[in-house]
Amino acid sequence: MTITVVGHGYVGLVTACVFADFGNQVFVIGHTKEKIACLKSGDPIIYEPGLKELLQKNIRAKRISFTLDYEKAIPESEIVFITVGTPPKETGEADLTAVIEVARNIGKNLKTKFTVVSCKSTVPIGTNHKLEIIISKHKSKHVDFAVASCPEFLREGTGIFDTINADRVVIGSNNKRAVEQLITLHKPINGKRVITDLASAEMIKYASNVFLANKISYANLISFYCEKTGANVSEVLSGVGIDERIGKKFLNPGLGYGGSCLPKDVKAFLDIGKKLFIKTDLLSSIENINLRAQENFLEKILKYVSGKKVAVWGLSFKPNTDDIRFAPSVFIIKKLLEQGFQINTYDQEATNNIKKIFADKIYYSKDPYQAVKKVDALIIITEWNEFRQIDLNKVKKLMKNPTIFDGRNIYDPSDLKKMGFKYYSIGRPYQ
Ligand code: UDX
Repeated sequence: MTITVVGHGYVGLVTACVFADFGNQVFVIGHTKEKIACLKSGDPIIYEPGLKELLQKNIRAKRISFTLDYEKAIPESEIVFITVGTPPKETGEADLTAVIEVARNIGKNLKTKFTVVSCKSTVPIGTNHKLEIIISKHKSKHVDFAVASCPEFLREGTGIFDTINADRVVIGSNNKRAVEQLITLHKPINGKRVITDLASAEMIKYASNVFLANKISYANLISFYCEKTGANVSEVLSGVGIDERIGKKFLNPGLGYGGSCLPKDVKAFLDIGKKLFIKTDLLSSIENINLRAQENFLEKILKYVSGKKVAVWGLSFKPNTDDIRFAPSVFIIKKLLEQGFQINTYDQEATNNIKKIFADKIYYSKDPYQAVKKVDALIIITEWNEFRQIDLNKVKKLMKNPTIFDGRNIYDPSDLKKMGFKYYSIGRPYQ
């Protein structure tokens, strides 16, 4: 098939490369000349494991091409995916400016071939219907098209694997031909098929992401209880997660959910609920607990740190990505700077992005050992694998005060105590 993907972020570029790799002809439309030039040269711009290799392989095979030009890509395509950003406005409402602009451009460039336009960006329920109206307004008379919602569930860091091995492929459309075309395209993708109407598909995406956020906030709430009662949250939640009705995934307490999806989707769902006069207290609580998880950690640091020089390991919102959107590192670093701390940071992928926020206000180390030299404490914010079995004896020797604040519970408290560290983690008694 010939398809177009509009947008080349974590969802767009992964989707484009995976479908190109299956043998489809894929156009990717961007809106910045420099970025298109990078992509054409085989540079994915973002960091996502395996993406660079997949991109370069499919450029060599001439199955993927990049353009600014809708006129070139849209008339050729049987399916067009919209994957541009829908960032939250001040009110939490999803900003649809980019999606609407894209829909207009698609409409203007549709030619006689039947085309399915499918929004993969997370959009408020009813948006695809609005896009249908916009496209209809801009298209020429004899053009036939249909809209469909085909939400994406990939996680950053495992995007390629998740796309190919989806738990489910959701296809929502009120047009039979559109559904058939999407079923054909998704044939090589593993996972159950959920074929439904437009609004239900849009709702499945929000309901899923908000549920995940809910689960994480619940785990964090339990960690607050554990800290006050002496229970150990790791043991408590493993005990809870064994129950198959609950499940052990997404029950890790820590510094709350960050990233480009969960925070934005909870906010948008709250906004949608308010507009529909639905009581959204549960959603407000999810958000409040998420913030509280970060504040709680910060308070712990400020209470027990013995000086003003600290190292921060891990800046991305989670491991295996360079993405720092809604990353807890940004919140913690901002607050520590306000308190006059000197901060040495280390992250294997996200440093360039964090530099755009903090510039010369903090230090950037090339390796984790360099970051801990003569510091009063080490603060672990993201659980990159390289920290799990790092030489902690070496770390201890380099530090001025051997204190670790671990926001992700990656070490065993009793091991660290034996080694002579003061070790503060999440929801587990200090050993
Ligand atoms: C999420 C959804 O998982 C995915 O289905 C959707 O398509 C996009 O949004 P992503 O944002 O890439 O994916 O990351 P995810 O793995 O869900 O983690 C989100 C945040 O929650 C991270 O900050 C992570 O550290 C945090 N988290 C996750 C926890 O704090 N505890 C957990 O148990 C799991």
